[in-house]
Amino acid sequence: MPESASPHREITSFVHHRARFTEGQLNAWNRWWSTYGHEISALLDGSEPYDPPAWFGRTAPLIMEIGSGMGEASAAMAAAEPDIDHLAVEVFEPGLGQLLKRIVEADLRNLVLLRGDAVALLRERVPPASLAGLRIFFPDPWPKRRHRKRRLIQPAFVALAASRLAPGGTLHMATDWDDYARQMLTVAEAAEGLENTAGPGQWTPRPEWRPVTKFERRALREGRTVHDLIFRRVA
Ligand SMILES: C[S@@+](CC[C@H](N)C(=O)[O-])C[C@H]1O[C@@H](n2cnc3c(N)ncnc32)[C@H](O)[C@@H]1O
Repeated sequence: MPESASPHREITSFVHHRARFTEGQLNAWNRWWSTYGHEISALLDGSEPYDPPAWFGRTAPLIMEIGSGMGEASAAMAAAEPDIDHLAVEVFEPGLGQLLKRIVEADLRNLVLLRGDAVALLRERVPPASLAGLRIFFPDPWPKRRHRKRRLIQPAFVALAASRLAPGGTLHMATDWDDYARQMLTVAEAAEGLENTAGPGQWTPRPEWRPVTKFERRALREGRTVHDLIFRRVA
């Protein structure tokens, strides 16, 4: 349906692609999704509670990654930060299948996967001031002008994100698209309750601990610059 035919449909930051699983991803999906995964639709319609302490079997600082892709960074961060509980949110099922494989291979206990729209989840189910961090690495750049409205990092989204962070919690973004990086900087600096940890107008030097993914490797190979931005929620 053309967008103009459905004026009330919300514009999402993703489009649904036909899921093409590899055999390994599909096997992992069939075997492990019910153990490590939750459907955001079930959380939204109330058939399942949003309950991280029950999912992880403990209460620990909680970090949400939006758009975990193939899960390269997600699995590495969860392994490197055992005292933090990690939620990886993604719509792309083969990527979640790949991440399930990584979870099982590395026996990770502090990573839970959520399938669906992270924006709806944040808005409808994630309590205010409940996250220690939000990570958004290489969000879809939507480079065509007519698609810009699909970009995730917009004023309304950043206000929502800020409200879900606990005081002191951080919003960490990274992108290899210069004009998107500038948009992130402008939007986050204008948001109430967020402070740029690098100082006004500054990029954050690439943190050593942020795992390199395929998107970043390709950007560097093609001569693009990667910008990190880390903002802190101030009370
Ligand atoms: C360009 S990829 C980057 C993946 C990964 N962060 C990396 O660096 O390799 C962006 C991902 O964000 C996902 N995504 C976009 N909007 C989303 C949303 N609202 N909720 C959940 N996932 C989303 C897309 O499906 C896509 O896999």
